[in-house]
Amino acid sequence: MNKVIGLIAGSLRKESFSKKIANTLLPIAPQGFEFRLISLDGLPIYNQDFDDHNEVPATYTAFRDEIRALDGVIFITPEYNRSVPGVLKNALDVGSRPYGKNVWDGKPAAIFSNSPGNISGFGANHHLRQSLVFLNVPAMQQPEVYLTKVDELFDENGTMHEGSTKQFLQQAVAAYLVWFQKNAA
Ligand code: FNR
Repeated sequence: MNKVIGLIAGSLRKESFSKKIANTLLPIAPQGFEFRLISLDGLPIYNQDFDDHNEVPATYTAFRDEIRALDGVIFITPEYNRSVPGVLKNALDVGSRPYGKNVWDGKPAAIFSNSPGNISGFGANHHLRQSLVFLNVPAMQQPEVYLTKVDELFDENGTMHEGSTKQFLQQAVAAYLVWFQKNAA
């Protein structure tokens, strides 16, 4: 059976570069793997009352089921104010509760941060790692993936230009899948 790797872009924006990176990765899953886009649209901000008082929104249940069904995750994160965008942090929070039922638990992850700017989402990349430690999600350390000038990577149809960044992404995915096999429970 194929191992299913979720591609989670930390942006809701229609023309999001992170989503375009996810779409670039989607068709390159090698034999034995399926890549699956996970949308964060419509996921309400986490409120512990929902879990404590048995008022869990259907969107939380569906999202938790979707994550539970994955074998691994590639997080494609932009950076907001030198950290993880709230929408992605919220998704981590929703999946982490109720206490003891963390759906991220043990799923090997990779972090691909990106930005139109020069710092490439470094702050978001490393803040995300901090949360993943607590969630018991092992995160690939090498290669580190920081994608700069993402606004120059795509044509008007959202297709990534051929070139060194695309090649590097393909190499990073290949490295992740090898690392995944060693770290999957
Ligand atoms: C940004 N942006 C940004 N970029 C960056 O490199 N470091 C940062 O700290 C920030 N901070 C930030 C805060 C907020 C609130 C916004 C809206 C934007 C710019 C950001 O990289 C750019 O908007 C990306 O295009 C967002 O990613 P998506 O939506 O294209 O995936």
